[in-house]
Amino acid sequence: MDLLWTVLLMVLVCSEAQNMINVTGELGQDVNLTCSFSSPDIIWFMEVQNRIRAGIGRTYSSDPIYFSPDLETKYSVSENKLLVRNLSAEDSRFYFCGRKDDGRTVYGDTIRLTTSK
Ligand SMILES: *[C@@H]1O[C@H](CO)[C@@H](O)[C@H](O)[C@H]1NC(C)=O
Ligand SMILES: *[C@@H]1O[C@H](CO)[C@@H](O)[C@H](O)[C@H]1NC(C)=O
Ligand SMILES: *[C@@H]1O[C@H](CO)[C@@H](O)[C@H](O)[C@H]1NC(C)=O
Repeated sequence: MDLLWTVLLMVLVCSEAQNMINVTGELGQDVNLTCSFSSPDIIWFMEVQNRIRAGIGRTYSSDPIYFSPDLETKYSVSENKLLVRNLSAEDSRFYFCGRKDDGRTVYGDTIRLTTSK
């Protein structure tokens, strides 16, 4: 998890929310979160504590990277989607998509995922 925490410290804060989308998924099911950016290179983050974002993965066209190897069993990034597998209560949180623009991260949607039975 060291890399995850490194990334986490790098992506601190930034509170401007663009689109706010609510998504509900059933516990134990998989759910796709969709980013409204049509960029071939989308970065996904999740809120791990109030206003602290951790990177999940980046699509890099079709050669995705994950910011920590253990994230890859839980999440899958492809095109403009983040697949969250086997939902549990801890998956209820905010997710953010963004893209790199001249080295800066430009945030797109804020997605609030909630779980239901
Ligand atoms: C999303 O859910 C929150 C909390 O339930 C609510 O305050 C907000 O209005 C909802 N937004 C949309 C776009 O449905
Ligand atoms: C999520 O999206 C991917 C790619 O479009 C698709 O193959 C998969 O079936 C979707 N899964 C769910 C649970 O919607
Ligand atoms: C889904 O998560 C539950 C715990 O939340 C676990 O017991 C179960 O084995 C997981 N299922 C799969 C297919 O990974």
